[in-house]
Amino acid sequence: PAAEIGPNYKDQKPQATQVFLLCNSISTPIHHENVHILPQTPQLIALLTMIRDKNTHRGDFIFYSNRIIRLLVEEGLNHLPVIPAPVTTPTGRVYSGVRFEGKICGVSIMRAGEAMEQGLRDCCRSVRIGKILIQRDEETCMPKLFYDKLPEDIADRFVLLLDPMFATGGSATMAAEVLMSRGVPEERILFLNLIASPEGIKSFAEKFPKLRIVTAFVDQGLDDKNYILPGLGDFGDRFYCI
Ligand code: PRP
Ligand code: URA
Repeated sequence: PAAEIGPNYKDQKPQATQVFLLCNSISTPIHHENVHILPQTPQLIALLTMIRDKNTHRGDFIFYSNRIIRLLVEEGLNHLPVIPAPVTTPTGRVYSGVRFEGKICGVSIMRAGEAMEQGLRDCCRSVRIGKILIQRDEETCMPKLFYDKLPEDIADRFVLLLDPMFATGGSATMAAEVLMSRGVPEERILFLNLIASPEGIKSFAEKFPKLRIVTAFVDQGLDDKNYILPGLGDFGDRFYCI
């Protein structure tokens, strides 16, 4: 299927089979200024195709997830403030550069969010990383908080909150509440995730209108067990176990 979505697919008149493919591979539009969906390039759709495929083995699932995570982290960093930082180049000219203002840290929602830590470390050398262990109850899908360990000065930092799956939004809401209870202002939190549901985004964005979300794709909805559709199944199981 990925081969049918070529670089110029927007200019082509789609055949009937392609219409289905294209509809199913277009992120649900979200109109909220703090929700940022990665550019829907053929490359990103091909990467998502790999991790969604139930026949993709664990090694490939990890490899292609990591590629998307890298794109998410790079985009997340674009949302941090910069200040002027002019430098002189070897030609003797001044380049009117910028540098990041302020300190950052990552916070992963365990277990699946830990899969995103390396992507953050690859971009931000020796970044501090806190952990929040939240698990969804398998019957009720309600989140339960077990543990957190966060940098002591987290209130002074921008926080990149990491969790690949954003289904009902319950786990992310609980994590945001923990961060805010430690003094992190809403507007200093960026939530990075691979796949979101429209329902999760709506309730979360209404609750935290200043918190920014960066996602690779907004899917079509949730099933009766609150799994994302079409989704990719259980991210944590596929990344760590299966
Ligand atoms: C998954 C996922 C999110 C949560 C999303 O974790 O990683 O944390 O579910 O669902 P929600 O938006 O409806 O809260 P899970 O609790 O299954 O644990 P895991 O990380 O160990 O897989
Ligand atoms: N957690 C996952 O791993 N996948 C989903 O679809 C929902 C929650």
